[in-house]
Amino acid sequence: MGRIHSKSVQVQVMPRDRYYQKPTQIQTMPRDRYKQKCSISSPGSSNTTITYVGDTKMYGKNEAQRNDECDRLHMAHFSIRDLWKSNFSSPIEDLLTNKRAKVLDVGCGAGTWVLDTSLNYPKSEFYGIDILPLFPQCIKPSNVTFSQCDILQRLPYDDNVFDYIHMRFMGSSLTRSAWEYAIKELVRVLKSGGYIEICEIDNIWVNEGPRAGKLRSQAIRTLIRKYNVCLMSSPLARRTLRENNQLTDFHQEKKMVPMGSWGGKLGEVFLENARWGAKNLKSAVDSFGMSDVRYDTMIDSAMNEIELKKNVFDTVHRFWAKKL
Ligand SMILES: C[S@@+](CC[C@H](N)C(=O)[O-])C[C@H]1O[C@@H](n2cnc3c(N)ncnc32)[C@H](O)[C@@H]1O
Repeated sequence: MGRIHSKSVQVQVMPRDRYYQKPTQIQTMPRDRYKQKCSISSPGSSNTTITYVGDTKMYGKNEAQRNDECDRLHMAHFSIRDLWKSNFSSPIEDLLTNKRAKVLDVGCGAGTWVLDTSLNYPKSEFYGIDILPLFPQCIKPSNVTFSQCDILQRLPYDDNVFDYIHMRFMGSSLTRSAWEYAIKELVRVLKSGGYIEICEIDNIWVNEGPRAGKLRSQAIRTLIRKYNVCLMSSPLARRTLRENNQLTDFHQEKKMVPMGSWGGKLGEVFLENARWGAKNLKSAVDSFGMSDVRYDTMIDSAMNEIELKKNVFDTVHRFWAKKL
């Protein structure tokens, strides 16, 4: 039997103020802001009613459901990072590394993108905003600030503040007119020469079978009917960025991702994300009027079909553009 030698390893301890900050005062939003509908003026048409679903209906009524959604968002973040081998595609590496750049993550959810990216660029300042306080309240790097706000209202920032704005997976939250309003507001707070980047997944399962097709189309129809949001938001994101006359230098990249274990670990994770995401939509779609058990069985059966087909893909997009 060989002997096991254990070397003593020098563990670097991070200064306490780098990872612990006293809880900041998070502004509580007035209750009526959580209502499903808000009347705001969107560009081009006055008094358009914009529906948003960034409320308890979409993300669950209790804390356990929200925590579960946060865990799913953490997993989704690392799968996207692994797919691209990066957290962004805009040409901002030098800016974030060497300058005190200001970065905004919109609809930051559990804050995973902000937490992960901010640690790589300690000189830059990161801001995460979300309508729900899903982000960490106190354990975070010192270059990170989270706040609760609604991107369908005027943001609490002056014009031309941020060097880079990132927004991901807002397809289930923004209606068509809300996309236009949100992008216009984000461009307002973006500096001239700064970049805005959007990442969306299609939720279109290429080569899907009948069970997966039934689940997907029923979910898409229900979300459009109930909230007027379209799960496949990449065309909206693309068009809204392209049509904004303050943006130039538009770029796009897309990656096809395998769903299922035939695609290795990444394929397994993307399939799991689809299963988990569909289950977490339960309250948003009222389980399609079925019992929760039947709803879960429908999802598992669709996911097993995808696993067995060994040729199903989804598509992830990144779009980015520069402010004139
Ligand atoms: C699917 S999650 C994506 C989270 C995060 N971007 C990520 O990639 O992990 C969508 C997030 O948008 C937030 N949201 C929805 N409507 C919003 C609004 N009007 N203003 C700000 N955040 C909103 C939700 O609360 C949720 O955290």
